[in-house]
Amino acid sequence: MRSHQNYGKITDMAIPSTSDTAARVAKGEPYSFSFHYLSEDVVRYINALFAKILAGMDQIFLLDTFITIIREICINAVKANAKRVYFRTIGISIDDAESYPEGIEMFKKNVIGHFETMEAGLKNSDYRVSFSMKRDQNGLVIQVLNNSIIRPEEMARISMRMEKARHYEDFSEAYEEIYDDTEGAGLGIVLTVLLLKNSGIGVENYKIIRGEKDTRTLLVIPFELRPQEITTRIKKQILAEVDGIPTFPKNVLELQRLCANPDSSIGEISEKITIDPALSTDVLKLANSAGFISGKRIETIPEAIKNIGLKNLNAILLATSARSILDKRYTRFEQIWAHCNHVAFYARGIAIKFKLARMVENAFLAGLLHDLGKIIMLSTDLGTTNKIADIVKDRKIRTSTVMEEISVGISHANIGEMLAGKWGFPDYLVEAIRCHHTPLNAVEKHRDIVFTVYLANIMCGIESRRYQLYYAEDEVLARFALSSDAAFNELHAELKTAYDTRVE
Ligand SMILES: [Fe+2]
Ligand SMILES: [Fe+2]
Repeated sequence: MRSHQNYGKITDMAIPSTSDTAARVAKGEPYSFSFHYLSEDVVRYINALFAKILAGMDQIFLLDTFITIIREICINAVKANAKRVYFRTIGISIDDAESYPEGIEMFKKNVIGHFETMEAGLKNSDYRVSFSMKRDQNGLVIQVLNNSIIRPEEMARISMRMEKARHYEDFSEAYEEIYDDTEGAGLGIVLTVLLLKNSGIGVENYKIIRGEKDTRTLLVIPFELRPQEITTRIKKQILAEVDGIPTFPKNVLELQRLCANPDSSIGEISEKITIDPALSTDVLKLANSAGFISGKRIETIPEAIKNIGLKNLNAILLATSARSILDKRYTRFEQIWAHCNHVAFYARGIAIKFKLARMVENAFLAGLLHDLGKIIMLSTDLGTTNKIADIVKDRKIRTSTVMEEISVGISHANIGEMLAGKWGFPDYLVEAIRCHHTPLNAVEKHRDIVFTVYLANIMCGIESRRYQLYYAEDEVLARFALSSDAAFNELHAELKTAYDTRVE
């Protein structure tokens, strides 16, 4: 069983705690570790470490982008080593220009796509990847070194791809060209370059250097980021789309004010609800659902309000209106709403479990609305988003938001945030929508709710096989005392049983 606190066994040397390391790096001390294979544990370690280091640099918003870049760099380094180990096993010298093409064909056929078969070979070889970093006056300097010398042909191909990638404006341009690349190296470089441009780190801060005995990739995360360089056609289209979405109906806004005001009477509120038949139906349905058993069937709106309470009423108001506006405008995305209901159920369960009583209803509502932006994203350009989903699945990128940002220029979380702002949603809800894939970006004040929705979303993602537990942020798991797999799985199983046996 894995322990989040102890990464000591993953690399060649004992690993100190990520907090200690981050503190040392912040003081300007150099830090390095090495590994032979990029296992899930190594990725987890890098995630946890950089979550702390970037937070210390006030650049936590870069985390997902950064992790994706680092992952690509490390994969390339391990792959270069693996190539050499493989050539050795098949008895071909990597420096022999004549038999190189034959060897590389075999490597593509037998190793690419079955990379785990190289783990043991790499472990027993003298090939290593060493990862080091040091903070200087410009920013954080990272070096990933592998002790195999890059061949001139390999170097030429990398330079050519980097040069090409610099000129791509967005991912759709690059996509066709690189998709067929069997080695996948082209895709990795294009991804990296687009991420560097889009994050403001800048392409000039990424270099591959051919040394005499090794190959080094240098990456500098500058303290001063440049403004985003990518504005895509799709992004413009999306912004215009959000602009065109209607505001909340007056009736609903008025109702929300009434719910928030302790002096309002139930009679007043009931009257307003009765005007809206869809809303009346939802309120009655909710009051009669399993969550609010009162013994007898509730037939009137005033009774319903008494039964569910004003907080719940406010939540149902917001969710119903948001959904009905979007459903009128776009094709119905049943799958997304079903997912949102699922997340909402888990978020409520987590809030109850951890005695976050003040925010049970809010957590439920945030779950219901967390993926609002996805509907707009999917409505705008299905072609691109499908391609994104494709690539994300293959490359084990932690969240789809990184890929959305580089291919579209904006993520569904940010689209949702804009819409939530436009609709005047309360702060906690805007924050939960904005940070549901990047919880460490959330302000402290709203972390309970953001982390709750994040966790609920991870659980649903695990069930639909889009996520794995090791993607989850250590800090979030620790906050809920779920740092061991067993504790997490136990809670997940408990919520899943409740969900599977729920009565609607
Ligand atoms: Fe999402
Ligand atoms: Fe989601």
